[in-house]
Amino acid sequence: MVRSVSIAGRGSDVKEADIGIDQISEAMIRRLVDEFYIKVRADPELAPIFEHAIAGDWEPHLAKMRDFWSSVMLTTGRYKGNPVITHLRVEGMEARLFGRWLELFAETCRALFDDRLAEAFCVKAARIAESLKLALFYRPSRPPSRTIS
Ligand code: HEM
Repeated sequence: MVRSVSIAGRGSDVKEADIGIDQISEAMIRRLVDEFYIKVRADPELAPIFEHAIAGDWEPHLAKMRDFWSSVMLTTGRYKGNPVITHLRVEGMEARLFGRWLELFAETCRALFDDRLAEAFCVKAARIAESLKLALFYRPSRPPSRTIS
């Protein structure tokens, strides 16, 4: 297939790699999402945040996350949502937790996929995490206002 997923690194260290889109299936995404949230639900720091926000019925969240990863990796456009607004409302959200989230995500990808594919998912996740973190936690200090007399 000609279409490919282009992945880019963070900051100025931008690299492009082509992962054939036909190497990724909806079934793989489903497996990734299922396994990742099993890990999240067993993590002492992340679990309480998710259990509180999701309060019982995990299926709608898992379905949304399948759509999200399908949109990110396969450009299906299935995910319709605003992660920044959602995360702004998540109680207990802290910038330092992104490291743990990414660690569990990488562990899951490496257990399920070959190195190149795992890397493609992880690079995307890291970029999205970075932009989410900036949107949620970066508050540029305002320059002192100049008074004109
Ligand atoms: C500190 C790390 C993170 C925490 C604690 C966290 C927590 C959560 C929680 C609790 C929800 C469910 C909110 C609700 O339904 O009310 C959620 C939704 C979501 N998260 Fe995260 N998240 C984190 C990082 C990420 C990252 C790095 C990504 C993407 C790579 C991501 C993508 C999403 C998406 C797409 C949703 C669904 C948003 C929607 O409702 O449309 N999250 N997250």
